[in-house]
Order: sequence, then structure tokens, then C-alpha cells
Amino acid sequence: MATIVGSVTTSHVPAIGGAIARRLQGDPYWKPFFDGFVPVRDWLARVKPDVAVVLYNDHGLNFFLDKMPTFAVGAAPQYRNADEGWGIPVVPPFTGEQDLSWHLIESLVEEEFDITTCQEMLVDHAFTLPMALLWPGGGAWPVRTVPVAINTVQFPLPSAGRCYKLGEAVGRAIASWESDARVVVLGTGGLSHQLDGERAGFINRDFDLAFMESLVSDPKWATRYSIAELVEKSGTQGIELVMWLAARAALPGPVRRVHGNYHVPISNTAAGLLALEAVH
Ligand code: DHB
Ligand code: FE
Repeated sequence: MATIVGSVTTSHVPAIGGAIARRLQGDPYWKPFFDGFVPVRDWLARVKPDVAVVLYNDHGLNFFLDKMPTFAVGAAPQYRNADEGWGIPVVPPFTGEQDLSWHLIESLVEEEFDITTCQEMLVDHAFTLPMALLWPGGGAWPVRTVPVAINTVQFPLPSAGRCYKLGEAVGRAIASWESDARVVVLGTGGLSHQLDGERAGFINRDFDLAFMESLVSDPKWATRYSIAELVEKSGTQGIELVMWLAARAALPGPVRRVHGNYHVPISNTAAGLLALEAVH
């Protein structure tokens, strides 16, 4: 059976793509952010995942407001990136892990999750930038991928508790996949930020730090809050933090914190990073 090596959860601000393109990793504005990824890359080089299951939210590239699935799973041979309007360079395509895609889809439907199956799927900055931060270099990606999209764009959104349960089911599906592969679960989005409205620029450091800590010691902590309460605490786009919850929930049992970083702000966002290792 496949092995889950751990999870990496991170923010996914489009400006990161511009910074990578302009090689600004050592710039004083960017350095505290990019430096956070070094220990996580070292850890990935040690645990050597073959596959990344990426929990993220699409922002209007693959799904628009006319058709918005709550949960969607990619089952394509390849996932291309396209310019979604931020002017960031397009990255090379990602190879799909279709056998895991279909096993995941079958397992989730069996567990009564009503998902959308995507045999064609474009991936936006929420998928591509975390991949580029974890495996920089711009060449061929060293892992095969399965995208799992959770709607955080158009209300109503799935509750934090529902996203947690989805993550648990994703974890069970990976663990029952007949394969020798080593799998890392990524969750991208958050932490606190609000791009629009009266509270544009809103950031909540205390809540973010409590949330990051909870993922290690009390992973269901955030599920006590409704979506409205989480928006109040973390901002209208901070609600993307449900990806972190789902990714953590995919890990079987206790975890070890490999590395974390928190830096405010990157663009309008409190940028967080957390790598957790599954303790088997
Ligand atoms: C920003 C953050 C996001 O999560 C996003 O999807 C787009 C923009 C930002 O802070 O600029
Ligand atoms: Fe986002």
C-alpha cells in the first residue's frame, strides 16, 4: 500500500510567481518568506515523495462562477497552467497520477462525498506556486500529481468540519491505494487575508498562530467555527485555511512538526508554511 510521508501547507500569493521570475528570493522583502522553504525542501529530499496530492482552491481559471463544484478531483494525464490574469509566467505542465486519481474518486464517492471528476483541468497559482516553492528549478517536476479543489470562492462554502472529513477520507484513500508510492499531501491558501471590501488588508496574527499550533496538537480545533466565524477571524480570502485543515486531516494519527514559518505580509496576505511528518 502507498505511504503518506506528511503534509506541507502554505500560502499561495500570485506575487510569489513574479518574485521567482525576477529572482528576488534574496531581496529584503522576500527573503524571510523564501528562507522558510529551505528546511522543508531538505525534508522533501529526505522523504522522497513520488506523488503530491494537492488540496487547493481554483480562483476562476478552471471553474468560474457559472459552474462551481464544492469538491473536485483531477483525473487527467496532465495538468497545464495558464495565465489567469496576474501576469505571472506560466510554468511547465504537471504529470497526473491517474491511478491514484481514480482510486481517490472511487473511495470518496463510496464514502458519500459528491465530487466533480475532472478529466481535463487547468491549474492556477494556488497549485503552481507551492509546487514551484517546494521544487524550484523550473525543469520537469519530480512528483506526479493529483489536484483536489475545494470551493472557497463562491458561497455557500463547505464547512470546516466537512473539509476536515474530506481530508480524512483522502488520507484513507491514499493509505488503501495499492502502490509502493510515497505520497505527500499539500494544502494551499490562507492564512489571514482579505483582498476586498471595508476590511481589505485585514490580517489576524494571533488567530493564524493559534491555528498553526492547533494543527499539531489539536487538529480539529478550527472545526468548532462556522464559515462566517472563520471569515470574521481570518478574512474573506483567509477562509482558504480550510485547505490546511483538510491536508492535516489526511495524515493518519499523530504528527511531528518538521518546520514552520510565518511572515507578515506578503502582498496582502499573512504568509504561513507548515510541514508535518506522519509518525507511523
Ligand atoms: C493574494 C492572495 C491570494 O490567496 C490570492 O489568491 C490572490 C492574491 C494577495 O495577497 O495578493
Ligand atoms: Fe488565494
